[in-house]
Formats: sequence, structure tokens, C-alpha cells
Amino acid sequence: MSELKNDRYLRALLKQPVDVTPVWMMRQAGRYLPEYRATRAQAGDFMSLCKNAELACEVTLQPLRRYPLDAAILFSDILTIPDAMGLGLYFEAGEGPKFERPINSLADVQAIPRLDPNDELGYVMNAVSTIRRELKGEVPLIGFSGSPWTLATYMVEGGSSKTFGKIKKMAFAEPKTLHLLLDKVADSVIDYLNAQVKAGAQSLMIFDSWGGVLSPRDYNEFSLQYMHKIVDGLIREHDGRRVPVTLFTKNGGQWIEQIAATGCDAIGLDWTIDIADARRRVGDKVALQGNMDPAMLHGTPERIREEVQSILAGFGQGTGHVFNLGHGITPDVDPENAGVFINAVHEFSAQYHQK
Ligand code: CP3
Repeated sequence: MSELKNDRYLRALLKQPVDVTPVWMMRQAGRYLPEYRATRAQAGDFMSLCKNAELACEVTLQPLRRYPLDAAILFSDILTIPDAMGLGLYFEAGEGPKFERPINSLADVQAIPRLDPNDELGYVMNAVSTIRRELKGEVPLIGFSGSPWTLATYMVEGGSSKTFGKIKKMAFAEPKTLHLLLDKVADSVIDYLNAQVKAGAQSLMIFDSWGGVLSPRDYNEFSLQYMHKIVDGLIREHDGRRVPVTLFTKNGGQWIEQIAATGCDAIGLDWTIDIADARRRVGDKVALQGNMDPAMLHGTPERIREEVQSILAGFGQGTGHVFNLGHGITPDVDPENAGVFINAVHEFSAQYHQK
């Protein structure tokens, strides 16, 4: 078992005592940092950056050099899986991700291969092992994937969507086709995440960015069911340590009891739920991650510090909280304000962890 110098992120996820509340930020490696923009320019485009293990490692470590973060997250993207399935991922400037060959029919779904994560996605495993080596045990490394539903939205819509018309048409007119797609994606996600654990990821997170656009019944049928299948298929212990799993459904605050019932270790919360309510509802079962509005980072330093204190007070005494934003940090944030946020979490949380 490799020793970690700072394991408070893993300890909080497992509800073990900590000295202060751990903190990291979704999308902590990204365009708000000038050093990220420089490395990305060196790589060319975004996917070339993901496919170059040395540069992916460099951008993973950049936010850790600036801030006392308690975890690192693999630099990659959730869309690596559909890309490896042959859909042809590309990024159109200002328009986000797109696919050259989206999924339109049952025949398209049947043609999707089962991925070998060490083959088509071997570049991700190289990035994981390189980052783990270069972290030198400073903090744990988080591996991740998209949820089957969220990946399927991009695969069927052909990119980002506002209305989700195509995938909802598939859900309600051809549910068997969508279920086959979700099942195939879930199998590849299981293999992909387990390969990340073997390559060195010490915790896993599943991003369900779009589960919140579904009705409660459809959320269960098309999103949660497949995340549950993934949780059941994951390696939960590696190198003598538990590998905690966090499920994050954006806009999923109304379903946290059902999410907790999957057997995950932690639930990611966006900012539309009161963390005190969330803890009352599920806090004896799982840890909670979140949940400051990322737009708060545009506020004054005083306002950011006040918000951190309010969320810490909402969670209250004891362990089981990993502080984070409720969604990814945006490219227009002032890096100084991110520092104010991170320092405030450590400064104001010690009082909640006294024996
Ligand atoms: O958190 C981290 O620091 C790790 C890296 C990470 C990225 N994407 C890097 C990235 C993670 C965990 C993701 C997840 C991801 N990717 C999600 C789920 C989380 C969420 O935000 O809801 C989604 C939906 C995607 C799909 C995706 N990839 C989008 C919508 C975009 C933005 C496109 C744009 O032009 O703004 C990407 C590209 C992307 N992924 C960037 C980064 C840093 C920006 C690429 C660049 O221009 O440099």
C-alpha cells in the first residue's frame, strides 16, 4: 500500500475523522488558469492534450501548485468513451463537443463495440499512471467517467443539447434501442473505471450531468438504474484501501435517497439543494460533496468567505463532507478568487472537526 501524505479527501468520503474539511474543484484544471491555456496551445487541440500523458499530467498538477487542494482529478473528458467507440469526437470553437457519426438507429447501437480500456483508451491509463507517479503521494487521484445516460445524450444528439429531443424520442418511441445503448455503455464504463483503478486512480466519480432533465420515473429507468449497475461492477478495494465512488447527478437533489441506495460512498450535490437538508435525508448512509454555486467565484472575497462559512455550518459538525463547487469552475473566473475559496474551506472548517 502506497502511503499518502494527505488522505483527508479519502477519509471524508468514508466518514472517517479529518482535521479540516477537504476541498477540490470540478474542472480545476482548465481555461481559467493561464498556465493551462499555455500548455493547451502547446498541445494544439483539447483531445491532443488528453492523449499526451506528459501534458495531461502537467495540467492535472497545475492547480495543485497554486492551491492547497486535497485531491487531483485525472485530466481527460467524459467523451473519450464514445470517441473510442468510433463516433468521431471533435470540438467546434464556441459550440462545445460534437460527433461526426451520432447514433440514430438500432443498427448503429448494435454496431457499437465493447471497448478494451487498455487498447483504444490506453492513452487514458497512461495518463493515470503518469499522474499517480508524479503526484508522489501528495494527494489522492480521482478517476472518472460520464454516466451512461449523460454519454448517450451526446451520442444520440450528436453534441450538446438544450431540449434533448432526439434522445427523448428514442426513450419514448424506441425504449429497447435506448436500453441496449445504455447497457452497452454501462459495460464499457465498468471496464474503463476498473482499468483506471488498476492504473492508479484512488477514488472514482461518475458525472451524470444530464440526469436532471428527466422525470422522476424516467430518471430511475434511464439514468440511475445504469449507475447502479456500474457501482455493482466496480472494484471497491485496491492496494489495501477502499476505492470510494461518488455519484453526481446535476439537478438530482430530489432523488438523493435513491442515489444513496445504489451503494455508492458519496453523492455530489449541485447548489440548488440545501446541504443541511441533504445531510438530514441521507447523511447516515453516504458522504456529501459540494455544493457552492460556481458563479459565487465572481463575488467579492468577503462574499465567497461568507458563503463557505454558511455551507460548512449547514453541513455541521463531523466528517462526511468534501467541499466542492456544485458544478465545474468556469473559464472566466479570476484565479485569485479560487484561492480565496479553497483557503476559506480549510480556515473555517477546523472548528467542525474538534473531538
Ligand atoms: O475536472 C477536471 O479538472 C478534470 C477534467 C474534466 C474535463 N471534462 C476537462 C475538459 C472533466 C471531469 C470533464 C467532464 C465533462 N466533460 C463533463 C461532465 C461534467 C460537467 O461539466 O457536467 C461533460 C458534460 C463534458 C463534455 C465537455 N467536454 C464539454 C461540455 C466541454 C466544454 C466545451 C467548451 O468548449 O467549453 C468539454 C471540453 C473540456 N473538457 C474542457 C476541459 C478543460 C475545455 C477544453 C478546452 O477548450 O481547453
